[in-house]
Amino acid sequence: MIVTCNPEVAKDILNSSAFADRPVKESAYSLMFNRAIGFAPYGVYWRTLRRIAATHLFCPKQIKVSEGQRAVVAVQMVEMLRDQQNRTRSVCVRDVLKRASLSNMMWSVFGKKYRVDSNDHDSVELRKLVDEGYELLGVLNWTDHLPWLADFDPQGVRSRCYKLVPKVNRFVKRIIDEHRARPSQVSGDFTDVLLSLEGPDKLSEPDMIAVLWEMIFRGTDTVAVLIEWILARLVLHVDVQVKIQEELHRVVGRSRAVTEADVTSLVYLPAVVKEVLRLHPPGPLLSWARLAITDTVIDGHQVPAGTTAMVNMWAITRDPEIWNDPLVFRPERFLNESEGLMDMSVMGSDLRLAPFGSGRRSCPGKGLGLATVSFWVASLLHEFEFGRCDGYDVDLSEVLKLSCEMATPLHVSLRSRPDPSPLEV
Ligand code: HEM
Repeated sequence: MIVTCNPEVAKDILNSSAFADRPVKESAYSLMFNRAIGFAPYGVYWRTLRRIAATHLFCPKQIKVSEGQRAVVAVQMVEMLRDQQNRTRSVCVRDVLKRASLSNMMWSVFGKKYRVDSNDHDSVELRKLVDEGYELLGVLNWTDHLPWLADFDPQGVRSRCYKLVPKVNRFVKRIIDEHRARPSQVSGDFTDVLLSLEGPDKLSEPDMIAVLWEMIFRGTDTVAVLIEWILARLVLHVDVQVKIQEELHRVVGRSRAVTEADVTSLVYLPAVVKEVLRLHPPGPLLSWARLAITDTVIDGHQVPAGTTAMVNMWAITRDPEIWNDPLVFRPERFLNESEGLMDMSVMGSDLRLAPFGSGRRSCPGKGLGLATVSFWVASLLHEFEFGRCDGYDVDLSEVLKLSCEMATPLHVSLRSRPDPSPLEV
Protein backbone atom coordinates (compact mmCIF):
# COMPACT_ATOMS: atom_id res chain seq x y z
CA MET A 1 0.00 0.00 0.00
CA ILE A 2 1.18 3.55 -0.67
CA VAL A 3 -0.14 6.66 1.05
CA THR A 4 0.71 10.20 0.04
CA CYS A 5 0.36 13.60 1.69
CA ASN A 6 1.87 15.44 -1.27
CA PRO A 7 -0.49 17.21 -3.72
CA GLU A 8 1.74 16.58 -6.74
CA VAL A 9 2.02 12.87 -6.03
CA ALA A 10 -1.71 12.79 -5.26
CA LYS A 11 -2.41 14.27 -8.67
CA ASP A 12 -0.21 11.63 -10.32
CA ILE A 13 -2.04 8.82 -8.54
CA LEU A 14 -5.61 10.03 -8.94
CA ASN A 15 -5.21 11.05 -12.56
CA SER A 16 -3.19 8.02 -13.60
CA SER A 17 -4.97 5.52 -15.82
CA ALA A 18 -3.18 2.80 -13.82
CA PHE A 19 -5.11 3.70 -10.63
CA ALA A 20 -8.58 3.43 -12.15
CA ASP A 21 -9.77 0.60 -9.92
CA ARG A 22 -10.71 0.28 -6.28
CA PRO A 23 -9.84 -2.44 -3.78
CA VAL A 24 -13.16 -4.02 -2.86
CA LYS A 25 -13.91 -4.35 0.83
CA GLU A 26 -15.64 -7.55 1.86
CA SER A 27 -18.67 -5.62 3.09
CA ALA A 28 -18.98 -3.76 -0.24
CA TYR A 29 -18.76 -7.06 -2.09
CA SER A 30 -21.31 -8.76 0.16
CA LEU A 31 -23.69 -5.83 -0.23
CA MET A 32 -23.28 -6.15 -4.04
CA PHE A 33 -21.69 -2.72 -4.35
CA ASN A 34 -19.13 -4.22 -6.73
CA ARG A 35 -22.00 -3.89 -9.26
CA ALA A 36 -22.51 -0.18 -8.47
CA ILE A 37 -20.39 2.78 -9.60
CA GLY A 38 -18.11 3.21 -6.60
CA PHE A 39 -16.70 -0.30 -6.40
CA ALA A 40 -17.29 -1.57 -9.96
CA PRO A 41 -14.02 -2.63 -11.59
CA TYR A 42 -12.76 -0.18 -14.18
CA GLY A 43 -14.17 -1.15 -17.59
CA VAL A 44 -17.18 -0.95 -19.89
CA TYR A 45 -19.76 -1.63 -17.15
CA TRP A 46 -18.39 1.10 -14.86
CA ARG A 47 -18.12 3.58 -17.77
CA THR A 48 -21.73 2.88 -18.77
CA LEU A 49 -22.99 3.48 -15.23
CA ARG A 50 -21.05 6.76 -14.93
CA ARG A 51 -22.43 7.96 -18.26
CA ILE A 52 -26.02 7.12 -17.31
CA ALA A 53 -25.71 8.76 -13.88
CA ALA A 54 -23.97 11.83 -15.34
CA THR A 55 -26.71 12.30 -17.93
CA HIS A 56 -29.76 11.64 -15.76
CA LEU A 57 -28.80 12.62 -12.22
CA PHE A 58 -25.73 14.82 -12.01
CA CYS A 59 -25.58 17.10 -15.05
CA PRO A 60 -26.31 20.82 -14.45
CA LYS A 61 -29.66 20.55 -16.26
CA GLN A 62 -30.81 17.74 -13.96
CA ILE A 63 -29.56 19.59 -10.88
CA LYS A 64 -31.69 22.53 -11.98
CA VAL A 65 -34.72 20.28 -12.56
CA SER A 66 -34.53 18.97 -8.98
CA GLU A 67 -34.28 22.45 -7.44
CA GLY A 68 -37.96 22.57 -6.45
CA GLN A 69 -37.63 19.26 -4.65
CA ARG A 70 -34.71 20.52 -2.55
CA ALA A 71 -36.78 23.61 -1.68
CA VAL A 72 -39.66 21.43 -0.44
CA VAL A 73 -37.27 19.37 1.70
CA ALA A 74 -35.67 22.59 3.04
CA VAL A 75 -39.09 23.84 4.20
CA GLN A 76 -39.82 20.52 5.93
CA MET A 77 -36.39 20.57 7.57
CA VAL A 78 -37.00 24.08 8.92
CA GLU A 79 -40.46 23.02 10.17
CA MET A 80 -39.02 20.02 11.98
CA LEU A 81 -36.31 22.16 13.60
CA ARG A 82 -38.91 24.75 14.61
CA ASP A 83 -40.99 22.03 16.20
CA GLN A 84 -37.97 20.80 18.17
CA GLN A 85 -37.06 24.36 19.11
CA ASN A 86 -40.51 24.73 20.70
CA ARG A 87 -40.18 21.49 22.63
CA THR A 88 -36.58 21.46 23.83
CA ARG A 89 -33.73 23.85 24.50
CA SER A 90 -31.06 21.66 22.95
CA VAL A 91 -31.64 20.46 19.42
CA CYS A 92 -29.56 17.59 18.00
CA VAL A 93 -29.35 18.54 14.34
CA ARG A 94 -27.91 15.27 13.01
CA ASP A 95 -31.17 13.35 12.98
CA VAL A 96 -32.96 16.14 11.11
CA LEU A 97 -30.13 16.54 8.57
CA LYS A 98 -29.96 12.82 7.86
CA ARG A 99 -33.72 12.61 7.45
CA ALA A 100 -33.71 15.59 5.07
CA SER A 101 -30.87 14.18 3.03
CA LEU A 102 -32.46 10.74 2.85
CA SER A 103 -35.85 12.20 1.83
CA ASN A 104 -34.13 14.17 -0.90
CA MET A 105 -32.31 11.14 -2.29
CA MET A 106 -35.42 8.93 -2.05
CA TRP A 107 -37.26 11.51 -4.13
CA SER A 108 -34.55 11.72 -6.82
CA VAL A 109 -33.80 8.04 -6.97
CA PHE A 110 -37.15 6.35 -6.30
CA GLY A 111 -39.61 9.22 -6.82
CA LYS A 112 -40.79 8.60 -3.21
CA LYS A 113 -41.81 11.66 -1.25
CA TYR A 114 -41.32 10.83 2.41
CA ARG A 115 -41.82 13.82 4.70
CA VAL A 116 -38.70 14.70 6.68
CA ASP A 117 -40.56 14.20 9.98
CA SER A 118 -42.30 11.02 8.83
CA ASN A 119 -42.33 8.05 11.17
CA ASP A 120 -44.49 5.74 9.09
CA HIS A 121 -43.50 2.11 8.71
CA ASP A 122 -41.71 2.54 5.37
CA SER A 123 -39.60 5.49 6.52
CA VAL A 124 -38.58 3.79 9.73
CA GLU A 125 -37.62 0.59 7.91
CA LEU A 126 -35.70 2.53 5.29
CA ARG A 127 -33.71 4.45 7.89
CA LYS A 128 -32.84 1.17 9.63
CA LEU A 129 -31.62 -0.39 6.36
CA VAL A 130 -29.53 2.66 5.47
CA ASP A 131 -28.02 2.93 8.97
CA GLU A 132 -27.10 -0.76 9.03
CA GLY A 133 -25.47 -0.64 5.56
CA TYR A 134 -23.67 2.58 6.44
CA GLU A 135 -22.25 1.02 9.57
CA LEU A 136 -21.16 -2.16 7.77
CA LEU A 137 -19.38 -0.25 4.99
CA GLY A 138 -17.67 1.96 7.54
CA VAL A 139 -16.33 -0.82 9.80
CA LEU A 140 -12.58 -1.41 9.69
CA ASN A 141 -12.95 -5.09 8.83
CA TRP A 142 -9.84 -7.09 9.68
CA THR A 143 -10.59 -9.69 7.00
CA ASP A 144 -9.98 -6.99 4.33
CA HIS A 145 -6.38 -6.77 5.52
CA LEU A 146 -5.66 -10.22 6.95
CA PRO A 147 -7.01 -12.73 4.42
CA TRP A 148 -6.23 -15.69 6.71
CA LEU A 149 -9.00 -14.43 9.00
CA ALA A 150 -11.57 -14.67 6.20
CA ASP A 151 -12.95 -18.05 7.28
CA PHE A 152 -13.76 -16.73 10.73
CA ASP A 153 -15.64 -13.45 10.11
CA PRO A 154 -14.43 -12.29 13.58
CA GLN A 155 -16.42 -9.05 13.64
CA GLY A 156 -19.56 -10.64 12.22
CA VAL A 157 -19.54 -8.24 9.25
CA ARG A 158 -20.25 -10.97 6.69
CA SER A 159 -23.15 -12.48 8.58
CA ARG A 160 -24.70 -9.04 9.13
CA CYS A 161 -24.32 -8.28 5.39
CA TYR A 162 -26.01 -11.57 4.51
CA LYS A 163 -28.93 -10.65 6.75
CA LEU A 164 -29.19 -7.14 5.30
CA VAL A 165 -29.07 -7.98 1.58
CA PRO A 166 -32.43 -9.78 1.30
CA LYS A 167 -34.14 -6.97 3.23
CA VAL A 168 -32.67 -4.33 0.88
CA ASN A 169 -33.59 -6.45 -2.14
CA ARG A 170 -37.19 -6.76 -0.97
CA PHE A 171 -37.47 -3.03 -0.26
CA VAL A 172 -35.98 -1.87 -3.57
CA LYS A 173 -37.66 -4.59 -5.64
CA ARG A 174 -41.05 -3.49 -4.36
CA ILE A 175 -40.31 0.06 -5.54
CA ILE A 176 -39.10 -1.20 -8.93
CA ASP A 177 -42.28 -3.29 -9.30
CA GLU A 178 -44.42 -0.24 -8.48
CA HIS A 179 -42.61 1.65 -11.23
CA ARG A 180 -43.12 -1.19 -13.70
CA ALA A 181 -46.83 -1.31 -12.93
CA ARG A 182 -47.55 2.30 -13.80
CA PRO A 183 -47.33 4.12 -17.13
CA SER A 184 -43.67 4.69 -17.99
CA GLN A 185 -41.81 7.90 -17.13
CA VAL A 186 -44.48 9.14 -14.73
CA SER A 187 -42.08 11.09 -12.58
CA GLY A 188 -38.79 10.67 -14.42
CA ASP A 189 -36.90 9.59 -11.30
CA PHE A 190 -33.67 7.57 -11.53
CA THR A 191 -35.55 4.25 -11.25
CA ASP A 192 -37.58 5.22 -14.33
CA VAL A 193 -34.34 6.06 -16.11
CA LEU A 194 -32.78 2.67 -15.33
CA LEU A 195 -35.97 0.84 -16.33
CA SER A 196 -36.05 2.64 -19.67
CA LEU A 197 -32.55 1.54 -20.73
CA GLU A 198 -32.39 -0.61 -23.83
CA GLY A 199 -29.78 -2.62 -25.70
CA PRO A 200 -26.28 -2.91 -24.26
CA ASP A 201 -27.07 -0.38 -21.49
CA LYS A 202 -29.95 -2.47 -20.09
CA LEU A 203 -29.28 -3.57 -16.50
CA SER A 204 -30.34 -6.79 -14.81
CA GLU A 205 -32.58 -6.38 -11.78
CA PRO A 206 -29.84 -7.17 -9.20
CA ASP A 207 -27.53 -4.63 -10.89
CA MET A 208 -30.28 -2.04 -10.87
CA ILE A 209 -30.87 -2.62 -7.15
CA ALA A 210 -27.15 -2.17 -6.44
CA VAL A 211 -26.92 1.07 -8.44
CA LEU A 212 -30.05 2.59 -6.90
CA TRP A 213 -29.07 1.61 -3.39
CA GLU A 214 -25.58 3.05 -3.77
CA MET A 215 -26.98 6.42 -4.79
CA ILE A 216 -29.12 6.49 -1.66
CA PHE A 217 -26.05 5.72 0.42
CA ARG A 218 -23.55 8.09 -1.09
CA GLY A 219 -25.98 10.96 -1.43
CA THR A 220 -27.35 10.75 2.10
CA ASP A 221 -24.48 10.64 4.53
CA THR A 222 -21.98 12.94 2.81
CA VAL A 223 -24.40 15.85 2.62
CA ALA A 224 -25.66 15.46 6.20
CA VAL A 225 -22.13 15.06 7.60
CA LEU A 226 -20.84 18.16 5.81
CA ILE A 227 -23.75 20.35 6.95
CA GLU A 228 -23.27 19.22 10.56
CA TRP A 229 -19.59 20.27 10.37
CA ILE A 230 -20.57 23.63 8.86
CA LEU A 231 -23.11 24.30 11.60
CA ALA A 232 -20.59 23.29 14.29
CA ARG A 233 -18.10 25.82 12.93
CA LEU A 234 -20.79 28.50 12.77
CA VAL A 235 -21.72 27.92 16.41
CA LEU A 236 -18.06 28.25 17.38
CA HIS A 237 -17.35 31.24 15.13
CA VAL A 238 -20.32 33.51 15.72
CA ASP A 239 -18.71 36.33 13.71
CA VAL A 240 -18.69 34.09 10.62
CA GLN A 241 -22.33 33.16 11.15
CA VAL A 242 -23.28 36.83 11.45
CA LYS A 243 -21.43 37.64 8.23
CA ILE A 244 -23.36 34.98 6.32
CA GLN A 245 -26.61 36.30 7.74
CA GLU A 246 -25.68 39.84 6.73
CA GLU A 247 -24.94 38.59 3.22
CA LEU A 248 -28.30 36.79 3.10
CA HIS A 249 -29.96 39.97 4.31
CA ARG A 250 -28.40 41.94 1.45
CA VAL A 251 -29.12 39.38 -1.26
CA VAL A 252 -32.43 37.86 -0.13
CA GLY A 253 -33.92 40.16 2.51
CA ARG A 254 -36.40 38.91 5.10
CA SER A 255 -39.61 38.94 3.11
CA ARG A 256 -39.15 35.71 1.17
CA ALA A 257 -37.35 32.38 1.30
CA VAL A 258 -33.87 31.78 -0.14
CA THR A 259 -33.70 30.30 -3.66
CA GLU A 260 -30.85 28.47 -5.35
CA ALA A 261 -30.51 31.42 -7.72
CA ASP A 262 -29.76 33.59 -4.64
CA VAL A 263 -27.05 31.16 -3.58
CA THR A 264 -25.18 31.70 -6.85
CA SER A 265 -24.94 35.41 -5.94
CA LEU A 266 -23.39 34.74 -2.54
CA VAL A 267 -19.65 35.16 -2.07
CA TYR A 268 -19.01 34.68 1.62
CA LEU A 269 -21.04 31.47 2.11
CA PRO A 270 -19.09 29.56 -0.60
CA ALA A 271 -15.85 30.62 1.11
CA VAL A 272 -17.19 29.21 4.40
CA VAL A 273 -18.15 25.93 2.72
CA LYS A 274 -14.65 25.69 1.21
CA GLU A 275 -13.01 26.37 4.56
CA VAL A 276 -15.10 23.62 6.20
CA LEU A 277 -14.25 21.22 3.36
CA ARG A 278 -10.59 22.08 4.01
CA LEU A 279 -10.65 21.40 7.75
CA HIS A 280 -13.27 18.65 7.80
CA PRO A 281 -13.29 16.83 4.44
CA PRO A 282 -16.01 14.14 4.72
CA GLY A 283 -13.73 11.75 2.81
CA PRO A 284 -10.36 12.52 4.42
CA LEU A 285 -8.53 9.56 2.87
CA LEU A 286 -10.57 10.24 -0.25
CA SER A 287 -12.85 7.67 1.37
CA TRP A 288 -12.26 4.92 -1.03
CA ALA A 289 -8.74 3.91 -1.99
CA ARG A 290 -7.53 3.29 -5.52
CA LEU A 291 -6.06 0.05 -6.87
CA ALA A 292 -3.38 -0.18 -9.58
CA ILE A 293 -4.53 -2.31 -12.52
CA THR A 294 -1.10 -2.22 -14.22
CA ASP A 295 2.50 -1.70 -13.14
CA THR A 296 3.30 1.99 -13.01
CA VAL A 297 5.78 4.57 -11.75
CA ILE A 298 4.77 7.08 -9.08
CA ASP A 299 7.14 9.80 -7.90
CA GLY A 300 10.06 7.89 -9.44
CA HIS A 301 9.18 4.62 -7.68
CA GLN A 302 8.12 1.39 -9.40
CA VAL A 303 4.63 0.44 -8.23
CA PRO A 304 3.38 -3.05 -9.14
CA ALA A 305 -0.17 -3.84 -10.30
CA GLY A 306 -2.37 -4.74 -7.34
CA THR A 307 -0.98 -1.95 -5.12
CA THR A 308 -3.51 0.06 -3.13
CA ALA A 309 -2.94 3.83 -3.03
CA MET A 310 -4.48 6.33 -0.67
CA VAL A 311 -4.36 10.12 -0.66
CA ASN A 312 -4.37 11.65 2.78
CA MET A 313 -6.39 14.77 1.97
CA TRP A 314 -6.78 15.52 5.67
CA ALA A 315 -3.01 15.95 6.00
CA ILE A 316 -2.68 17.95 2.77
CA THR A 317 -5.32 20.44 3.85
CA ARG A 318 -3.53 20.98 7.18
CA ASP A 319 0.00 21.19 5.82
CA PRO A 320 1.80 24.41 6.95
CA GLU A 321 3.97 24.22 3.82
CA ILE A 322 0.81 24.70 1.75
CA TRP A 323 -1.51 26.79 3.93
CA ASN A 324 -1.00 29.86 6.11
CA ASP A 325 -2.20 29.18 9.66
CA PRO A 326 -3.58 25.81 8.54
CA LEU A 327 -5.39 25.05 11.80
CA VAL A 328 -7.14 28.41 11.97
CA PHE A 329 -10.71 28.55 10.66
CA ARG A 330 -10.61 31.59 8.38
CA PRO A 331 -12.92 31.61 5.31
CA GLU A 332 -11.45 35.00 4.36
CA ARG A 333 -8.33 33.18 3.07
CA PHE A 334 -10.39 32.37 -0.06
CA LEU A 335 -11.45 36.00 -0.49
CA ASN A 336 -8.25 38.00 0.06
CA GLU A 337 -6.58 38.70 -3.25
CA SER A 338 -3.19 38.79 -1.51
CA GLU A 339 -3.45 35.10 -0.55
CA GLY A 340 -3.93 33.98 -4.17
CA LEU A 341 -6.70 31.46 -3.36
CA MET A 342 -9.67 33.35 -4.77
CA ASP A 343 -10.02 31.12 -7.83
CA MET A 344 -9.19 27.87 -6.08
CA SER A 345 -11.59 25.15 -7.23
CA VAL A 346 -12.59 22.31 -4.92
CA MET A 347 -13.71 20.16 -7.84
CA GLY A 348 -10.48 18.21 -8.31
CA SER A 349 -8.21 20.30 -10.50
CA ASP A 350 -6.13 21.58 -7.55
CA LEU A 351 -4.94 18.79 -5.27
CA ARG A 352 -4.23 21.18 -2.40
CA LEU A 353 -7.98 21.04 -1.76
CA ALA A 354 -9.75 18.17 -3.51
CA PRO A 355 -12.44 16.89 -1.12
CA PHE A 356 -14.26 15.18 -3.99
CA GLY A 357 -11.18 13.39 -5.31
CA SER A 358 -9.80 13.86 -8.78
CA GLY A 359 -9.47 12.10 -12.10
CA ARG A 360 -11.78 9.61 -13.74
CA ARG A 361 -13.04 8.15 -10.44
CA SER A 362 -13.66 11.48 -8.77
CA CYS A 363 -17.04 12.04 -7.15
CA PRO A 364 -19.75 12.27 -9.81
CA GLY A 365 -22.15 13.80 -7.25
CA LYS A 366 -19.96 16.78 -6.36
CA GLY A 367 -22.07 19.39 -8.21
CA LEU A 368 -25.31 18.05 -6.77
CA GLY A 369 -23.77 17.66 -3.29
CA LEU A 370 -22.42 21.21 -3.21
CA ALA A 371 -25.65 22.69 -4.56
CA THR A 372 -27.65 20.87 -1.87
CA VAL A 373 -25.32 21.75 0.99
CA SER A 374 -25.01 25.44 0.06
CA PHE A 375 -28.74 25.91 -0.48
CA TRP A 376 -29.78 24.14 2.71
CA VAL A 377 -27.21 25.95 4.85
CA ALA A 378 -28.37 29.28 3.39
CA SER A 379 -32.00 28.33 4.12
CA LEU A 380 -31.22 27.31 7.70
CA LEU A 381 -29.25 30.47 8.43
CA HIS A 382 -31.98 32.58 6.90
CA GLU A 383 -34.43 31.17 9.45
CA PHE A 384 -32.37 30.57 12.60
CA GLU A 385 -29.50 31.76 14.71
CA PHE A 386 -27.52 28.73 15.84
CA GLY A 387 -26.01 29.02 19.31
CA ARG A 388 -24.29 26.94 21.95
CA CYS A 389 -26.55 25.24 24.42
CA ASP A 390 -25.96 24.64 28.11
CA GLY A 391 -24.51 21.28 28.93
CA TYR A 392 -23.14 20.60 25.45
CA ASP A 393 -19.72 21.64 24.16
CA VAL A 394 -19.09 21.83 20.45
CA ASP A 395 -16.64 18.95 20.28
CA LEU A 396 -14.66 18.86 17.03
CA SER A 397 -13.31 15.33 17.59
CA GLU A 398 -13.70 13.15 14.51
CA VAL A 399 -14.65 9.54 13.93
CA LEU A 400 -13.88 7.89 10.62
CA LYS A 401 -16.74 5.71 9.41
CA LEU A 402 -17.81 5.65 5.78
CA SER A 403 -17.41 9.44 6.08
CA CYS A 404 -15.48 11.39 8.69
CA GLU A 405 -18.15 12.52 11.14
CA MET A 406 -18.28 14.53 14.33
CA ALA A 407 -17.64 11.97 17.08
CA THR A 408 -20.12 13.77 19.35
CA PRO A 409 -23.33 14.83 17.60
CA LEU A 410 -23.81 18.59 17.54
CA HIS A 411 -26.40 20.04 19.91
CA VAL A 412 -27.47 23.63 19.35
CA SER A 413 -29.88 26.18 20.72
CA LEU A 414 -32.06 27.70 18.02
CA ARG A 415 -33.42 31.24 17.86
CA SER A 416 -35.75 32.27 15.08
CA ARG A 417 -34.40 35.25 13.20
CA PRO A 418 -36.51 38.38 13.59
CA ASP A 419 -39.55 38.69 11.35
CA PRO A 420 -39.24 41.13 8.47
CA SER A 421 -39.88 44.72 9.41
CA PRO A 422 -42.76 46.32 7.44
CA LEU A 423 -40.15 48.46 5.71
CA GLU A 424 -38.47 45.41 4.28
CA VAL A 425 -41.63 43.71 3.00
C1 HEM B 1 -20.65 16.80 0.03
C2 HEM B 1 -20.71 15.79 -0.51
C3 HEM B 1 -19.74 14.74 -1.07
C4 HEM B 1 -18.40 14.47 -0.82
C5 HEM B 1 -17.46 15.25 0.09
C6 HEM B 1 -18.04 13.32 -1.62
C7 HEM B 1 -16.77 12.76 -1.67
C8 HEM B 1 -16.40 11.71 -2.50
C9 HEM B 1 -15.05 11.18 -2.63
C10 HEM B 1 -13.84 11.70 -1.88
C11 HEM B 1 -15.08 10.16 -3.55
C12 HEM B 1 -13.88 9.32 -4.02
C13 HEM B 1 -13.22 10.06 -5.19
C14 HEM B 1 -11.93 9.50 -5.76
O1 HEM B 1 -11.61 8.32 -5.58
O2 HEM B 1 -11.21 10.29 -6.42
C15 HEM B 1 -16.46 10.03 -3.99
C16 HEM B 1 -16.90 9.09 -4.89
C17 HEM B 1 -18.22 8.92 -5.23
N1 HEM B 1 -19.28 9.71 -4.84
FE1 HEM B 1 -19.21 11.36 -3.69
N2 HEM B 1 -19.14 12.90 -2.31
C18 HEM B 1 -20.21 13.73 -2.00
C19 HEM B 1 -21.51 13.68 -2.50
C20 HEM B 1 -21.97 12.68 -3.32
C21 HEM B 1 -23.35 12.57 -3.78
C22 HEM B 1 -24.45 13.57 -3.44
C23 HEM B 1 -23.41 11.43 -4.55
C24 HEM B 1 -24.59 10.79 -5.25
C25 HEM B 1 -25.81 11.07 -5.09
C26 HEM B 1 -22.07 10.84 -4.58
C27 HEM B 1 -21.72 9.69 -5.26
C28 HEM B 1 -20.44 9.19 -5.39
C29 HEM B 1 -20.10 8.00 -6.18
C30 HEM B 1 -21.09 7.13 -6.95
C31 HEM B 1 -18.70 7.84 -6.09
C32 HEM B 1 -17.87 6.73 -6.76
C33 HEM B 1 -17.25 7.22 -8.08
C34 HEM B 1 -16.46 6.16 -8.84
O3 HEM B 1 -15.84 5.29 -8.22
O4 HEM B 1 -16.48 6.21 -10.08
N3 HEM B 1 -21.24 11.63 -3.83
N4 HEM B 1 -17.25 10.99 -3.34
